[in-house]
Amino acid sequence: MGRAFVYVILGGGVAAGYAALEFVKRGVSQGELCIISEEPVAPYERPALSKGFLLPEAPARLPAFHTCVGANGERLTPKWYKEHGIELVLGTRVKSADVKRKTLLTVAGETISYKILIIATGARALKLEEFGVSGSDAENVCYLRDLADANRLVNVMQSCTGGNAVVIGGGYIGMECAASLVINKINVTMVFPEAHCMGRLFTSKIANFYEDYYRSKGVNFIKGTVLSSFDFDSNGKVTAVNLRDGSKLSTDMVVVGIGIRPNTGLFEGQLTLEKGGIKVNGRLQSSNSSVYAIGDVAAFPVKLFGETRRLEHVDSARKSARHVVATIVEPEKTGEFDYLPFFYSRVFSLSWQFYGDNVGDVVYYGDMSGGAFGAYWVSKGQLVGSFLEGGTKEEYEAIAKATKLKPEVEDLSELERQGLGFAVAV
Ligand code: FDA
Ligand code: NAD
Repeated sequence: MGRAFVYVILGGGVAAGYAALEFVKRGVSQGELCIISEEPVAPYERPALSKGFLLPEAPARLPAFHTCVGANGERLTPKWYKEHGIELVLGTRVKSADVKRKTLLTVAGETISYKILIIATGARALKLEEFGVSGSDAENVCYLRDLADANRLVNVMQSCTGGNAVVIGGGYIGMECAASLVINKINVTMVFPEAHCMGRLFTSKIANFYEDYYRSKGVNFIKGTVLSSFDFDSNGKVTAVNLRDGSKLSTDMVVVGIGIRPNTGLFEGQLTLEKGGIKVNGRLQSSNSSVYAIGDVAAFPVKLFGETRRLEHVDSARKSARHVVATIVEPEKTGEFDYLPFFYSRVFSLSWQFYGDNVGDVVYYGDMSGGAFGAYWVSKGQLVGSFLEGGTKEEYEAIAKATKLKPEVEDLSELERQGLGFAVAV
């Protein structure tokens, strides 16, 4: 049993949705493109799962957030794929791949062959078991990567109103879920090993601002330690979290966000890997010329920094998806992928954006007591990174443009004095 397509996208997440729209814009013919996804629904905007989806009032639900609404694009419902002759193979896990024979084998036993494969398998959430803690499959312990996880989190949250939650991890999931739990009237304690939240991106000064804000909303922080075990009741529900520092936190539920691993397993030993992802060139092409990779799973050259990076953010998934289709369909007209890293988050009434790289000296500006504030990173005499909380659309555009241009910065105190005005004037 088998089917054959010109193009197959493996994975049906954000990158797959944006690639599908680009294929249609560039005139893919009916029956040429197939998307295979383990998830039972058409591609959707994953960032909604930790934000609008968790709201107590008028929460976001599908079909409202199918791709590509997150970038103000068309909303691609299952009907859209049908109308454009794109085969959506949903609820189907691919269990092996053979890049020499150009075939994928599904768990149902179907072989799907391709001329060109785009790997968009994203990543999976790391489990506590990988850090030696057991019992994280208990019904009131939640991870958050896909729609099924989000539905489960909503159900657990609704059964805990007025109760306590422990959030494990101080990264994106931890921060966004903690805010959502508070909005759902749940008392939150965050536990993470670092000295401050968002350790991969924030400086301690920036982190302090957000931690103080969270404290003002009732969130308690326990930093510099990790979970060592759970206590359970006779039904197998977690009743308390034991920390390595010896303390015990009674709780009604737990949310875990301790990082991800890219889904590269099908291609290990077949394609070159780097930085935990599938290594691709500036055309997003892997070590096999018929196979491309995009989104969270791809490690691609970031021209601006002159090195290969793997980025775990939605803007990179969307733009690498558009670029890969351009490079496949019109190779002679398409240059190398030239991407400015962009991260953002929205929690409570706060909202920040970051562009570029967080290396070198940091210069702060603005009003950290509640108004808009920001920071620049300067390395080797050039602006390489910009952060802004509470900016306007125009101000965010200005810091993005300035960071892309990498202007020279001779005097850090002058940069501090100019603040946001520096980016606006570039
Ligand atoms: P994505 O994970 O979206 O999709 C991968 C797909 O492949 C899934 O459908 C999966 O089931 C499928 N798949 C994997 N292996 C398979 C197999 N063997 N067979 C079949 N299917 C398979 N970023 C940001 O910049 N701002 C934000 O606010 C947020 N917010 C946010 C919230 C939450 C809750 C999460 C989990 C993530 C974010 N992100 C984010 C990150 C962002 O969502 C992420 O970078 C993109 O979804 C990556 O898109 P991909 O298409 O690469 O993977
Ligand atoms: P992350 O990498 O942002 O943070 C992981 C956190 O786990 C670290 O900050 C650390 O505090 C903690 N940690 C690591 N080991 C631990 C341990 N043994 N015990 C306790 N804590 C530990 O990952 P995440 O928050 O899980 O997010 C998952 C993915 O989802 C990431 O790719 C992220 O980019 C994406 N995401 C992005 C956004 C956004 O961009 N706004 C929002 C949500 C999710």
